[in-house]
Amino acid sequence: MEPSALRSTIIVLCLTIGGPAILYFGILGSLIAVPSLQAHVTYLHRVALTWSKDLNVPEQFGFARHQVTPFYISTTDGERLHSWHILPLVAYIENQPQILSQGLEGGLVHDFGSTLNFRLLKENKSARLVLYFHGTSGTMASGWRPDSYRSLYAADPLNTHILAFDYRGYGESSGYPSEQGVINDALAVTDWALNTAEIPPENIVIYGQSLGSAVALALVNEYSKRYPEIRFAGLVVTATFSDMARLTATYRIGGIIPVLSPIAKIPPLFKYFTSQLSSKWDNMQRIAEFITTAQQYDITFLHAEDDADISMEHSKRLFHEAIRVVETLGNYSGDDGQKSIDERLHDRQEQRGEGGSLTVWPTKRGPIRLEIPKYGVHDKIMSYPATSIAISRAFARHASS
Ligand SMILES: *[C@@H]1O[C@H](CO)[C@@H](O)[C@H](O)[C@H]1NC(C)=O
Ligand SMILES: *[C@@H]1O[C@H](CO)[C@@H](O)[C@H](O)[C@H]1NC(C)=O
Repeated sequence: MEPSALRSTIIVLCLTIGGPAILYFGILGSLIAVPSLQAHVTYLHRVALTWSKDLNVPEQFGFARHQVTPFYISTTDGERLHSWHILPLVAYIENQPQILSQGLEGGLVHDFGSTLNFRLLKENKSARLVLYFHGTSGTMASGWRPDSYRSLYAADPLNTHILAFDYRGYGESSGYPSEQGVINDALAVTDWALNTAEIPPENIVIYGQSLGSAVALALVNEYSKRYPEIRFAGLVVTATFSDMARLTATYRIGGIIPVLSPIAKIPPLFKYFTSQLSSKWDNMQRIAEFITTAQQYDITFLHAEDDADISMEHSKRLFHEAIRVVETLGNYSGDDGQKSIDERLHDRQEQRGEGGSLTVWPTKRGPIRLEIPKYGVHDKIMSYPATSIAISRAFARHASS
């Protein structure tokens, strides 16, 4: 559609639907004209949700004294990412007297490398690490996130450490978010884990929720292209989406404010607006690339059936895309390969009643799973056993192979 034709369509629409439409298109128009405004709506990074609290006092979020160490990780393009290292509970209990008597004042730690907390991560060969990529809005400490950290190590409170951080522009991190910027952040944090903490990649699980799942996918995709390839123990993503354009067609901020859903049924208009998105987060493309490039993987798509913010159809679409690529590569490893994909999908879906369902797709390079618990909505699921089980499964599969 020509811009002029588009303009008249908008005017006609406004005249027919009236005031609310003028307001709506006015907002959409300014989102296109002012990219920084668009970034604010996409990333909601200034909606901290932890305003009255101090991210350098993790005790305020329910952690034991010095169980969490706040420190900074630098990116290659000059940003500083505010991060939390979270000690698993048993490792904390075993070392509590020494942890408390390190002479840490509390607050931000400038030399994390000199702390006992860091040595417990770096020097213990059994240490495992979950790299945690949070969703849009808030900080690493808002909403269900702190509960989620405690739940992630629940399956292994001895060895499972967690590294959470705020992307550029969020919380106490410097800078301003963009797709490439946030991916750079993920790379910086992962490089820190691999090279500073020296955790072997097979002892690392990449975990992301909502927007964080897109970051996680971009990250594993990037590392699979390195030489030699870096293979993590697994990738677990919760409440993911197929790409930003399709997400805006259904997404409602806080379950209420529509983004592009009012115009999703008018293809030319919708196409025009989505072409103006500065962050595309094309997860469909990235999962296809990852499945093609990676020589080994362990993937879980986890999505609650009652998620009203992002429909589980998004995770299904990504799962089916992954399966499609496995099929074209000839990498399926089940003994029922003569059946059609649909028949196999049907046979392989394990029903668990009120627990939902699990489908495991066996491939020569590792399993791909789609897990749909009935309950968990968009974010609570991060603190539910389904998530800790998925993460411990990824670690365990590696340990046994
Ligand atoms: C590793 O950490 C766990 C949990 O603190 C501890 O039980 C174990 O003894 C440690 N192993 C070594 C070799 O330090
Ligand atoms: C998977 O598919 C690729 C491309 O067809 C092939 O080169 C590879 O040997 C297959 N098997 C494994 C175990 O990766």
